[in-house]
Amino acid sequence: MKQYGVSIVPLLFLIFSYFCIYMGHVISLLNHKGGVGKTTSTINIGAGLVELGQKVLLIDLDPQANLTISLGIPRQKTTIYEALRGEGELVPYNHKPNLDVITSSLDLSGAEMELINEAGREFILRELINQVSDDYDYVLIDCPPSLGLLTLNALTSSRYVLIPLQTEFLAVQGLAKIKQVIDKVKMRLNKQLEMSGVIATMYDSRRVLNRDVVDTIHKYFGDKVFKTYIRDNVALAEAPAQRKDIFDYLPKSPGAVDYLALSKEILERTK
Ligand SMILES: Nc1ncnc2c1ncn2[C@@H]1O[C@H](COP(=O)(O)OP(=O)(O)O)[C@@H](O)[C@H]1O
Ligand SMILES: [Mg+2]
Repeated sequence: MKQYGVSIVPLLFLIFSYFCIYMGHVISLLNHKGGVGKTTSTINIGAGLVELGQKVLLIDLDPQANLTISLGIPRQKTTIYEALRGEGELVPYNHKPNLDVITSSLDLSGAEMELINEAGREFILRELINQVSDDYDYVLIDCPPSLGLLTLNALTSSRYVLIPLQTEFLAVQGLAKIKQVIDKVKMRLNKQLEMSGVIATMYDSRRVLNRDVVDTIHKYFGDKVFKTYIRDNVALAEAPAQRKDIFDYLPKSPGAVDYLALSKEILERTK
């Protein structure tokens, strides 16, 4: 053993650091409900991290392709669908400096059924991301509004999960199910997975209901809730119509201010 001491130590260190940086900054944005701000948050946290000097890849994993459409990206020859099916490599589309996107298409809606008999079907996305993740500081995955195979693939690929919650009635409804899925994935498929934050979205401090829901979310999640609440801001809903993120659309809007503050918190939490 001693004779190997000199060479084994750096080798062990290399293996250890590989597992530490591996998936280091892959983040899934997850909520099985639609319309809670997953896509808006993925785009604008991604763009916020770019504002903070990071290089970011966004992955559109929703067959509705809202992220792809919101950024005005034309139909690509190889989308996430073809890559998951092994019909092509992941080809990031350069949207603007330091912000790349893996696009989606409606074809992806068939993927869950088509991949169901594939060996290692929960890890297909992880293998694909591993091929490109060295080129980025952060990889953000916009999950579909379901807890099926695509979402499982996102969770096995990720180090962190963020849950956007609309500050409306029923916001916490069904969260036990999400927690259960995350816990199971953590136990069986990805020990490193961490539910690292809850994002309160579409918040309006003038509305008692919004304040009540935020209180409930705090009781439920404690300090997992990010200090920055994303306010209800029409600019965030307008930006996709201009095919822009909020920083390119209205950089002084409350939406831009909030997403930049949130991106700073995420940077801190994932250091
Ligand atoms: N903070 C916000 N203020 C106003 N509108 C918002 C805000 N966040 C999201 N929206 C709008 O709400 C709708 C649903 O948001 P989206 O991000 O698409 O949710 P999801 O991806 O969870 O389905 C979209 O029309 C979006 O533009
Ligand atoms: Mg969406």
